[in-house]
Amino acid sequence: MAFVNENFLKLPGSYLFSEIARRVSAYKGEHPDADIIRLGIGDVTRPLPPACIEAMHRAVDEEASSATFRGYGPEQGYDVLIEAILQHDYAARGICLRPSEVFVSDGAKSDTGNIGDILGQANTVGVTDPVYPVYIDSNVMAGRSGDLTDGKWSRITYLPCTAANGFVPALPEQRVDIIYLCYPNNPTGTTLTRTELKKWVDYAKANDSLILYDAAYEAYISEEDVPHSIYEIEGARQVAIEFRSFSKTAGFTGVRCGYTVVPEEVTVRTASGERVPLNPLWNRRQCTKFNGTSYITQRGAEAVYSPKGQRQVQETIAYYMENARILREGLRSVGFQVYGGVNAPYIWLQTPQGLTSWQFFDELLHRMHIVGTPGVGFGPSGEGYFRLTAFGQRENTLRAMERIAGWK
Ligand code: MLT
Repeated sequence: MAFVNENFLKLPGSYLFSEIARRVSAYKGEHPDADIIRLGIGDVTRPLPPACIEAMHRAVDEEASSATFRGYGPEQGYDVLIEAILQHDYAARGICLRPSEVFVSDGAKSDTGNIGDILGQANTVGVTDPVYPVYIDSNVMAGRSGDLTDGKWSRITYLPCTAANGFVPALPEQRVDIIYLCYPNNPTGTTLTRTELKKWVDYAKANDSLILYDAAYEAYISEEDVPHSIYEIEGARQVAIEFRSFSKTAGFTGVRCGYTVVPEEVTVRTASGERVPLNPLWNRRQCTKFNGTSYITQRGAEAVYSPKGQRQVQETIAYYMENARILREGLRSVGFQVYGGVNAPYIWLQTPQGLTSWQFFDELLHRMHIVGTPGVGFGPSGEGYFRLTAFGQRENTLRAMERIAGWK
């Protein structure tokens, strides 16, 4: 007889964005003429930068000739892309990383979900709350969560981030082994300053904890004092793994490419107290379970760093951030309390009139035909909040705000 991984049976219903899609499609089934504007899932709407398209076309042509054809590539990624990453994302900010510390992948969602493979089941986990659901769900699957009561997993430490604390999480009262931080934050769109992030690095050093730092939205940072990488903080190389993505930066949500940095100094312990570096373990995991990101995709990602690619990416980011401004100002003008949207493409708002997140979701869908994401779907401290994405098309963003102007 084969046995199931019973941890999966603990997971509630469906993944957040699948549940939203289900509700929208049910509504659409009953109201086929409803002109629905989707500002829910953070999926991009701008096409890939032309520099990436050109590079991918060239790579396709290479695959067409036996002289330049590529089969399996290195599981860690091609050197040309890794070199471009090291130079542009890190050396340009004064951070020195080794090529062997960068692992190219099919995206930050897979990597943040898979990283738990190399971490023991007994680890205690801390998350900021609200939080990207992948961090929690993947720990439930791995058996690290305990049981779900009143929207909280018993073995997970929740660090509330609400308007009351300016969305800056307090350090955990009880020591945790692993901490997930996502900055700029999904879903709140808020950030940590250098000083605030340093507190976490110091905490991890003092408590022998590991930080899993998701920087998928770093390209949207516009303010000076906001770190783009955790490695801008002294000592982070010993305690942090960083995840990056080309999805939100260069429109790769469908193409799939990201990377993970595992510095050689990051170590964790065996049960008997021996220190073990994580870099070779992640390498071993990837070589066993992953055959590398496609050559064509990696050539596209490399083109992001070309002068043309950089210019085009900046234009796309400016486009989305203008959407963010339109959303922020439109919502404020009708009295909503709004956060985020300055260093991130997400707008986080307080639901009006005491509505719960899901009540507001229904109101917005039924009355205004706008889809957003209920804050509580990201965790208990998201109750009473709601997320709108700035990744929509300009016209739809403007139309959504015209509809919201009639909110009463
Ligand atoms: C989101 O909407 O939070 C993100 O798009 C989901 C993701 O990046 O996987």
